[in-house]
Amino acid sequence: MQNIIDVKSIVNESKEKLKIEIDKLKKENIHPKLAVILANNDSASQIYVNKKRKMCEELGIIDEEYILDESVTTEKMLEIINKLNKDKSVDGILVQLPVFSHLDEKLILNTISPQKDVDGFHPENLGRLLIGEDTIVSCTPKGIMKIIDSLGEDLTGKNAVVIGRSRIVGKPIACLLLNRNATVTICHSKTKNLENYTKNADILIVAVGKASLVKKEMIKDGAIVIDVGINRIDGKIKGDVDTLNVVDKVKYITPVPGGVGLTTVLSLMENVVEVAKRRK
Ligand code: GUN
Repeated sequence: MQNIIDVKSIVNESKEKLKIEIDKLKKENIHPKLAVILANNDSASQIYVNKKRKMCEELGIIDEEYILDESVTTEKMLEIINKLNKDKSVDGILVQLPVFSHLDEKLILNTISPQKDVDGFHPENLGRLLIGEDTIVSCTPKGIMKIIDSLGEDLTGKNAVVIGRSRIVGKPIACLLLNRNATVTICHSKTKNLENYTKNADILIVAVGKASLVKKEMIKDGAIVIDVGINRIDGKIKGDVDTLNVVDKVKYITPVPGGVGLTTVLSLMENVVEVAKRRK
């Protein structure tokens, strides 16, 4: 269907461009390198890490992995991160979330050098985003903006509604939309009468993690809907939007699977390359 956004093509086109940039850097003896630290037993995280590894291989980014078991301590994690912070051959450091519950996640994330924080989770990078300065932008919001930009729509004055207020998606995507002159509303689990907001949304971003939360009657005719949800229901992956019933009402919608998730990994690769370019 024409209004289902072909995210795969957007990603493939960007991958080709990125590969050319990486090959250029290599000719200048700069070999982009990403260090990934996995400290959990979560199967979804392992799937993400495999996806990152695969795209690193495809593009020629060096992927260094630290797979840690439950005996790891916060001190050990900080030791690894501090070593990576100092290592000039490492461009990006990523700690896969969540980490084991006994670890101090906040301290771990804040120890990553803001210059190597390719997830854009460090308070310094989030702060720069808030004030509209150039910074490393977290991967899912960056990918969402790439999808929206591919549609060629001017966001100025548009009503953008974000459902979800997480540090990974909701808050940063709200900042990015605001920086592009959209009128932004953030809704969350305590919002009353959610549909009062969503019905007015020219652009609706849904990042909640509740299958089919957003129904047809909650959506404005001709809206652009970005579905960030990945929910496993009876062995199938479903988004946060009831896509089947919504698709005829919207101007554009992202599919799940094969939507925003694809751009998240690509954005990570782009962030690593952006940092590697600074070595010049
Ligand atoms: N876990 C779920 N999404 C993400 C992400 O974007 N980055 C990291 N580091 N962990 C995650």
